[in-house]
Amino acid sequence: MLKDEDIIKSGMDDDFDERLISSEVIERDEPENILRPKTMDGYVGQEKVKTNLAVFIESAKMRNESLDHVLLYGPPGLGKTTLAHIIANTLGVQIKVTSGPSIEKSGDLAAILTNLNEGDVLFIDEIHRLNHNVEEILYPAMEDFSLDFIIGKGPSARSVQIPLKHFTLVGATTKAGMLSSPLRDRFGVLCRLEPYTNEELAEIVRRSSKILGAEIEPEGAMELASRSRGTPRIVNRLLRRVRDFSLVSGHDKITLADTKKALSHLEIDELGLDRTDIAVIEAMIDKFNGGPVGLETLAATVNEDANTIEDVIEPFLLQLGFISRTPRGRVLTAGAYKHLGRPVPKSAQVSIFDENDDD
Ligand SMILES: Nc1ncnc2c1ncn2[C@@H]1O[C@H](COP(=O)(O)OP(=O)(O)OP(=O)(O)O)[C@@H](O)[C@H]1O
Ligand SMILES: [Mg+2]
Repeated sequence: MLKDEDIIKSGMDDDFDERLISSEVIERDEPENILRPKTMDGYVGQEKVKTNLAVFIESAKMRNESLDHVLLYGPPGLGKTTLAHIIANTLGVQIKVTSGPSIEKSGDLAAILTNLNEGDVLFIDEIHRLNHNVEEILYPAMEDFSLDFIIGKGPSARSVQIPLKHFTLVGATTKAGMLSSPLRDRFGVLCRLEPYTNEELAEIVRRSSKILGAEIEPEGAMELASRSRGTPRIVNRLLRRVRDFSLVSGHDKITLADTKKALSHLEIDELGLDRTDIAVIEAMIDKFNGGPVGLETLAATVNEDANTIEDVIEPFLLQLGFISRTPRGRVLTAGAYKHLGRPVPKSAQVSIFDENDDD
């Protein structure tokens, strides 16, 4: 028999449904590890980053020195963690994985650093969230491979240095702008990951479908790719869900029709927008005449967290050119109206060229 608790919980599930098109990790992603390529060759796309890294890694190996510190930055789900593991793998060294928020005290970081072996990779995810005291320990460690401490207080205080093994720090962040400049300056290699093209995503689908043992027709792969917001994590997640629909329909191969049907059940439209994205656009049209509207006001209207709107929903709408940011708030563009099949009001037809027009 269902208890009240269960009923409340199941009700909540509906409201807090995980967004399939979120580029953040959600609980169901756990087995995503099996889809992670282990070598540069298996890592699709990001050609510029791959070519450069391959040279730096090769050179470090030839010099028998540790690789310069590497900063990987770019939106969630584009392959930063995956690339960090590939770097260590290519160097043939161990990788220690930690994250900015999980290192609470400078002593915690000191313990990690003193345990590294020569040449090892230390991967710090969300490195923009390191606290200040911890970050200070990192400066001399990155620059001189040394831990610097002050022992004692007042006139008797003295500084102590402990040498460290040469290691490579690989930092990852979705918010490079939040990194302090002394920290940013200590990275010798900066790699910005870019959204993937549909062809690259389709290639990832092919690769993943082989690993999952779920064959997919090329047209189906392309359809998935075009609805995945340029993001490997999303395309892999959608592939799994589409596989479920196909399997239950008794097909031994995922067809284009399966793909379309599944995505329509999941309420993900041709551009990869879901219910929440559409709700934001509709609210802007119906409640604010297309804007300008402030972030907080918009968030309250659609019952979302302002951070979620800013970090998850807005970037893709900006990328599509559906909204623009003005000093007075967010404004909807003609493209957004057209996508929803709504009449485009005069205000949204003004282009940036008209604004600069003097007459
Ligand atoms: N270039 C790629 N080729 C093939 N698969 C990829 C590639 N990049 C990422 N993936 C797949 O996408 C998933 C997400 O990648 P990853 O976890 O490395 O992203 P991330 O940038 O670290 O995200 P976050 O910012 O949330 O930490 C991986 O499990 C992997 O399967
Ligand atoms: Mg990651």
